[in-house]
Amino acid sequence: MRSPLVVFTLIFTAIIVPIAAAQKVELSIDASKTGAKIDRNIFGQFAEHLGHGIYEGIWVGSDSKIPNTRGIRNDVVGALKAIKVPNVRWPGGCFADEYHWRKSIGPQRSVTLNPNWGGVTEANTFGTHEFMDFIDQIRADAYISVNVGSGTPQEAAEWLEYMTAAAATTLVKERAANGHPTPYKVALLGIGNESWDCGGNMTPDYYVSQMKIYSRFVRNFNPAQQDKQQMLKIAVGPGGDGPRWTDWTETVMKAYQQHTWSWDINGLSLHNYTVVHWPPSYTSVGFGETEYSQILKSTLEMEGLISKHSAIMDKYDPDKKVALIVDEWGGWYAPLPGSNPGFLVQQNSLRDAILAALNLNIFARHADRVRGANVAQMINVLQAMMITDKEKMVLTPTYYVFKMYVPFQDATFIPVTFDAGWYTHGAVAIPRLDAIAAKDTNGKLWLEITNLDPNEPVEVEAGLAGITAKSASGETLTAPKVDSVNTFDEANTVIPRQISAKIQGGKVTLKLEPKSVTVISVEQ
Ligand code: AHR
Repeated sequence: MRSPLVVFTLIFTAIIVPIAAAQKVELSIDASKTGAKIDRNIFGQFAEHLGHGIYEGIWVGSDSKIPNTRGIRNDVVGALKAIKVPNVRWPGGCFADEYHWRKSIGPQRSVTLNPNWGGVTEANTFGTHEFMDFIDQIRADAYISVNVGSGTPQEAAEWLEYMTAAAATTLVKERAANGHPTPYKVALLGIGNESWDCGGNMTPDYYVSQMKIYSRFVRNFNPAQQDKQQMLKIAVGPGGDGPRWTDWTETVMKAYQQHTWSWDINGLSLHNYTVVHWPPSYTSVGFGETEYSQILKSTLEMEGLISKHSAIMDKYDPDKKVALIVDEWGGWYAPLPGSNPGFLVQQNSLRDAILAALNLNIFARHADRVRGANVAQMINVLQAMMITDKEKMVLTPTYYVFKMYVPFQDATFIPVTFDAGWYTHGAVAIPRLDAIAAKDTNGKLWLEITNLDPNEPVEVEAGLAGITAKSASGETLTAPKVDSVNTFDEANTVIPRQISAKIQGGKVTLKLEPKSVTVISVEQ
């Protein structure tokens, strides 16, 4: 028989547990201690000729019934303008190392193959002019990846001359005849893609010898990009953290340290997807807390990866002249049933919103070295901003995170200290909370706080030094379940809603919903 004390304890516990107080986390922010600028380019996008990423996602053709401007769909342009996309990486990905630019300019386009992705043909109706028109419509910069794997330095050099030169060369006259007399700007140039794998299976030394040649001869001739706004050349970097990848970073950075007047690089790329198992087997819909916690644990490995490669870069480039550009990142899950597996079609849930916030925060904390990133991929592919189906379009939870983070573009990082505590589930133990702070270009303080715990709210108390807070408010993004998604029929399941904080004793206090992403600004 149980003692009265045990019985009381059981009843007490049964009553108390459901109304347990929220976890408390104290943040400490000193607004006078500023760090590096959070380069707006960390909010970059990646658009590859893959599945419906370009065709249907961006390009519908000018005779389509879907409202468009010169063949580019208006709904997509409107949504992307609102998140102030800084740059778009194009045309790949693996596609880039089999892309031959001449096949997609002018009135006669060649139909070619897209052997990497889904065994389909490539109509080449979306080429240089259409891409440049698209980024002009969304007001983004061009990040062009040139073909190192199956192309030649001459082909790439001529593409850059075609795009950027102003002098009356034959290629420039051809560009003018195709509708664009003035030179295009190319802000970033990717010298190959994953040259250690789909880009040609090169050894690090072989890649470095190729990279030097491309760096030397693939020039930007745009008169407006000679002194200011110079094109940044991005070398292929690592794709993981094992010895194979540290060796790659060592080899490229050692070469950079000894570079001469005739070649240079400004960035090293890093690719890292959140996959857990390869081939991707986690589903993008219909999962529970186990998969939620495992995916978040896996995505947090980005921190170690960046630290490891940054440390190698520091050895050869202590002044941090070469940026680390994480130009492919995001969740990669099993293809949706019924889709072409080569089209990399997946849904996008609240879990992806939290995954995006955690990665953006890691990039911001490394803002002195990480000065660019491109989420994979922009539309209809992997962790997309939006999903389209013919005339329909729906914005994903990840889209809303990018929208909430707009104030962090080019803001100045401010360190935040806190003891996050732990969220545990099964064998997974990860910090319960994540946070960053920054001052925007107008001097306003912004705070992002992610509550990773899917079950418990968190009461946050943020102590502020260096400013006197009068009020604080912003937006929070959460949903009923970790796998909640937006669909064409129910597009508003995961959307941000307004949130206000209280100011008590000079501190900002607010309650965060479980599994939520929150961005607030502080009025002084
Ligand atoms: O984003 C899909 C593919 O992933 C890219 O084409 C390639 O670079 C990477 O392996």
